[in-house]
Parts: sequence; structure tokens; C-alpha cells
Amino acid sequence: DAVRATTHDIVTAHASLEGPLLPILHAVQEAFGFVPQDALPVIAQGLNLSRAEVHGVMSFYHDFRTEPAGRHVLKVCRAEACQAMGTNALADKLKRRLGIDWHGTTSDGAVTLEPVYCLGLCAQSPAAMLDGELFARLDDDGVDEMLGGIGK
Ligand code: FES
Repeated sequence: DAVRATTHDIVTAHASLEGPLLPILHAVQEAFGFVPQDALPVIAQGLNLSRAEVHGVMSFYHDFRTEPAGRHVLKVCRAEACQAMGTNALADKLKRRLGIDWHGTTSDGAVTLEPVYCLGLCAQSPAAMLDGELFARLDDDGVDEMLGGIGK
């Protein structure tokens, strides 16, 4: 099928790289918006790895989605500087408000919530990124404003 064929092409294109697994996973996610289950055996076979190894690498990194994302992707920084400025409480509020956990997507398919580890805004933490747009010093008003833009 299309997933297998495309994945096969991606694996072939990257196979000669040193450490090809991560670039392949990124390219697959780029192609489909997530890493489909059907891609895993193709990758495993192409690199002579077990499926469990591919799966292990995927879950070790936080970059890969196993399901399609919502229409908007909200990434909340969980790295040190943001932790010190209350990002955990911020994330808890967002989770309650959206009714989802990390990596979850709201039931209407509007928003996917993902952790990110530093957005380069440590001096203005806590920070988040919505569809590539950065938001700094996020307090309740900031969250309202940020989510208001997507009708959430
Ligand atoms: Fe959050 Fe750097 S730690 S932006």
C-alpha cells in the first residue's frame, strides 16, 4: 500500500547514512504527519532491526507521533527553566481545559498537546508554541489569548 511503498522509498534513500533510523523516522513523519504502524515493519526490515527496536527508539524520542495530529499542535516546554517558572501547573491547566493528556488530541480533532524540551525562550518562561508561533511568559491571560486564536 501507499504507506509501505513510501516508507520503502524513504528507507532506501537513507540507508547509506550513518545512524539512519532517526532521519528515516523524521522523513516518514514528514510524509504522513505521523509514523503509521504499517511503516514500522518496513523500516525494521530495511535496517535489519526488530520492530521492538524501532518502536523503542520512537518512544524514547518525543518527536514522533503514532497517530495523526489535530488541526493545531500545541507544544508546551517542559525543560528546566520553564519548570522553574511553573510549566507543570500551566500544563495541568491546559490538559484540564482541553480534556487531554500529553500526546492527546481533543475529541473534535482541533488540538494536539505535546511536550517540547526548550524553545529557546528560557529567559521568558514558561513558553509554548502553537502551530509554530511562540508564546512566552504564559499566564492565564496568555493562555486565553493563545487558545482564543483557535476557538478553544
Ligand atoms: Fe523552556 Fe528553554 S526551558 S524555553
